[in-house]
Amino acid sequence: MPGPDPSRLAMPLGEAIFTQRAIRRLKPDPIPVEDIRLILEAAVKAPSGGNGQFARFLVVTDPAKIAEFGALYHEAWWAKRRDFEGWTKPEDIPADRAVSQSAMRLANEIGAAPCIVFVLATKGGPANSVITCAQNLMLAARALGIGSVPTTLHPQVMDRFKAMFAIPEDIDFHFCIPLGYPRGNFGPTNRRPSAELTSWDTWGNPAPR
Ligand SMILES: Cc1cc2nc3c(=O)[nH]c(=O)nc-3n(C[C@H](O)[C@H](O)[C@H](O)COP(=O)(O)O)c2cc1C
Repeated sequence: MPGPDPSRLAMPLGEAIFTQRAIRRLKPDPIPVEDIRLILEAAVKAPSGGNGQFARFLVVTDPAKIAEFGALYHEAWWAKRRDFEGWTKPEDIPADRAVSQSAMRLANEIGAAPCIVFVLATKGGPANSVITCAQNLMLAARALGIGSVPTTLHPQVMDRFKAMFAIPEDIDFHFCIPLGYPRGNFGPTNRRPSAELTSWDTWGNPAPR
């Protein structure tokens, strides 16, 4: 089996970072296995505390399994809305909450995604050593023209999620990342300027212009 070919991720880093936005509407077209492998190779290059390499990945491309998981994801998404917003049905979501509207559509459609990567960790593997892998994974996907969005689940479905994929009890869940070619376009994103979020030398002291 040939090794990963990082030259296929030649998109300028700035372009990848500045155009990477949440892609929730996915084409059903399958992603070549060699592309998924390259994305995973990029993921495992991320730093982790003490180089502990706690992250584990479960890639699902079997359409039947993804469809089965889709129902669980839908339940988890609504369980989160119930807990955090008190929403229990689509009519409860205000029309101006665009991200929530879009996320609800993903909850309806994720069962038709061509690929889902679950970012997991060995027991107690700290989130800050796993998030780095997830971001590398999504940037590598972006460089290949593959859309992604980081999502989470809800404790209500965790046992059934693990049972569905035979995930051992001592493996922790961190992210559910659907991957697919976008229906729609990549980036730009709407973010606050770094100067608003940054102090220099002392908290509250503005960054030099
Ligand atoms: C920790 C975390 C949890 C998230 N959970 C969800 C989710 O459950 N469903 C979803 O559709 N998007 C989820 N997102 C995606 C965010 O909504 C998205 O990154 C954010 O709105 C910025 O989107 P943009 O890059 O398109 O501007 C999550 C992102 C993070 C980092």
